[in-house]
Amino acid sequence: MLRGVTWLLLTLLSSASLSGWFLLQQYEEKSADFRILYRDITVKLSQHDAIMPLLSTQQNMAEVTHMLPQIVQWRHDSALTPRMPVIPEGEGQYWLSHGGLSLLIDLTVLLAGEEEKKTFQHFAISWQQARLYEQGDGNTSTWWRWDKTVVSPNQPFLLSAGGNPTWETLPWWWVGSPALFWALALYLLTQYQTNKRRRDIADLRAHYAELTRLNTLGELAGGMMHELNQPLTAIMSYNQAAVRLIEQNKLAQIPGLLNAAVVQIKRIDALLSQFRQRLASDDAADQPIVLPALWLRVCQLLDNEFRAGKVHLSSHFADDLSMLVAPPLWVEQILHNIASNAIQAQVGCAAAWLHFDVRHKDRGIVMTLTDGGPGLSEEALERVFMPFFTTRVAGIGLGMALVDTLVHRLNGTIEASNIAGQGACFRLWFPLREEAN
Ligand SMILES: Nc1ncnc2c1ncn2[C@@H]1O[C@H](COP(=O)(O)OP(=O)(O)OP(=O)(O)O)[C@@H](O)[C@H]1O
Ligand SMILES: [Mg+2]
Repeated sequence: MLRGVTWLLLTLLSSASLSGWFLLQQYEEKSADFRILYRDITVKLSQHDAIMPLLSTQQNMAEVTHMLPQIVQWRHDSALTPRMPVIPEGEGQYWLSHGGLSLLIDLTVLLAGEEEKKTFQHFAISWQQARLYEQGDGNTSTWWRWDKTVVSPNQPFLLSAGGNPTWETLPWWWVGSPALFWALALYLLTQYQTNKRRRDIADLRAHYAELTRLNTLGELAGGMMHELNQPLTAIMSYNQAAVRLIEQNKLAQIPGLLNAAVVQIKRIDALLSQFRQRLASDDAADQPIVLPALWLRVCQLLDNEFRAGKVHLSSHFADDLSMLVAPPLWVEQILHNIASNAIQAQVGCAAAWLHFDVRHKDRGIVMTLTDGGPGLSEEALERVFMPFFTTRVAGIGLGMALVDTLVHRLNGTIEASNIAGQGACFRLWFPLREEAN
């Protein structure tokens, strides 16, 4: 639509300019014709002034009219009778008087050879408001007008011409050619813009693919760091405790500590093989999961942190709970990261707690984790699942992003909210597979 209007405007403007230019050419041509007419008439009229003193009474009329055919008659008057220098006689004739001689001049004959006068719609010769000669209709108005007075002592006639453009001789092909030109120019411009847009989109896609690749690598590396950090810290503290006990010769508690360290080492092993698997393929082995047992394992893994934060743990599992079929390590990671955040959010809280609730809903299983912390800030509510969003000084902001990725891979959903008077609440839903139960 916009292109159509642009084309129309440009075409109209260009065609109007071209027409104006061609009309100007016509005007210049007619002006030149008028100048020629003026020059010829001036020359012929000056001949009358020149010849008058030379004409004698005995002059042969035939000779004179042969030389100047416009002089159709002459007569000698009494010099005593005062006469006007020019007396219109009608039908293109006038008397020109000087001294005792009067010449009857026929302007039609005088102008007979002047082809230029035909180019004008109207042409007239006047003397003091009286029309001596007229060609065409002087009452109809014309586009252009030319007026000039002949420089002559006895015949200061006013030459007037009026003309119209000759539309039929305008080069219409040229006047209409901008339509074609602008259509072609706009078509080429549109093609150029379309190609450029395509190129830009292709560049953008390539750039985006590169970014995604870098992001995936970054996310993977960040994810590994995030997941390995907690078990490594736990192993270190178990080993430090074991060394202290050996120094104090309290050997009885050492197997328990070392066993706890072994559990963490096994988790590291499992995490590493999961990352390996993720690099090789996206599939992880699905297994029926006994949720109470899995939760117990998460609590064991975070045992140190729960103790240090004095977090009170509670859970509720619905009776006849169906088995969730999924890679157990994924579900473990999800719960581990949410629980870990709950512990970190309640550091310094007098009565820290975490409640885990599992029940059926909409052909799936709903897991709700609620804590007694300050809850999620308004910004966190919006951005908690975005990679690298963190409010913790030592945080990376990848825990919940990983949770979100894993939940979606399991075709589940996750919502974050706050519970009035309590803390944050994460509600997860996973679909159940019919054949598993
Ligand atoms: N239970 C919670 N209570 C209050 N705020 C929370 C809770 N869980 C998450 N958040 C907010 O969401 C942010 C993002 O959590 P996320 O686990 O993604 O990153 P992080 O814990 O800050 O760092 P890390 O990558 O080490 O886990 C946290 O920094 C915190 O502000
Ligand atoms: Mg976290």
